Amino acid sequence: MELQHIDKVTIASWDRFYRANAINALVGVKPVSLIGTISNAGTPNVAVFSSMVHLGSNPALIGYINRPRAAAPDTLANIEATGVYTINHIHASFVAQAHQTSAKYPSEVDEFEAVGLTPIYRKGCVAPFVQESMLQYQLQLVEIVPIQHNGTFLVIGSVENIWLPHNVLQADGFIDVASIGTISSAGNDAYYTTQLLQRFAYAKP
Ligand SMILES: Cc1cc2nc3c(=O)[nH]c(=O)nc-3n(C[C@H](O)[C@H](O)[C@H](O)COP(=O)(O)O)c2cc1C
Repeated sequence: MELQHIDKVTIASWDRFYRANAINALVGVKPVSLIGTISNAGTPNVAVFSSMVHLGSNPALIGYINRPRAAAPDTLANIEATGVYTINHIHASFVAQAHQTSAKYPSEVDEFEAVGLTPIYRKGCVAPFVQESMLQYQLQLVEIVPIQHNGTFLVIGSVENIWLPHNVLQADGFIDVASIGTISSAGNDAYYTTQLLQRFAYAKP
């Protein structure tokens, strides 16, 4: 197969939205979830993020990339203020509402209300969970690492609590997210359903 070649000069010449879409999609299909937070003033916030990455299991750490403060201020400010946030899987039944959370609502707007999602609060966690989500977990802020090169932040949290339907966590610890219809994303606006292809035994040399 003959492949199309695109060089750095061409990438730099692209329109900014076109380039953002292409570079975002370049890495492939990614996890996508809703991050739930609350401000010091008590305004709940929910926003869609697709840069979640598992950083380690002991302690259980999850990171995500937050865009520069001017572009995406609320989630980051709320996490800094309260130290607590929730990550909630997205399913096809509310993907449109989930996508709508990427709109730039003013800080004082309750985005749950604005997009039609339901916040729920659990004991010991000031941040809201997304009731419609079948897999929800709670994080405690551990570290915010500023990335000097482009003004983004790696936000690292420890996993404090997990909620999911019974029997989804399997005997060997595997969580089959396809079985609960968790979706994934690529680019700025494309969402995928997921399907388990195959599992393997632990690979040995
Ligand atoms: C599919 C998708 C994935 C996104 N992933 C991220 C992400 O990983 N990091 C980020 O900072 N913004 C991401 N965004 C943009 C945020 O959702 C958007 O900036 C949102 O308004 C942030 O809201 P906030 O100011 O309430 O934090 C994504 C948007 C979409 C549609």
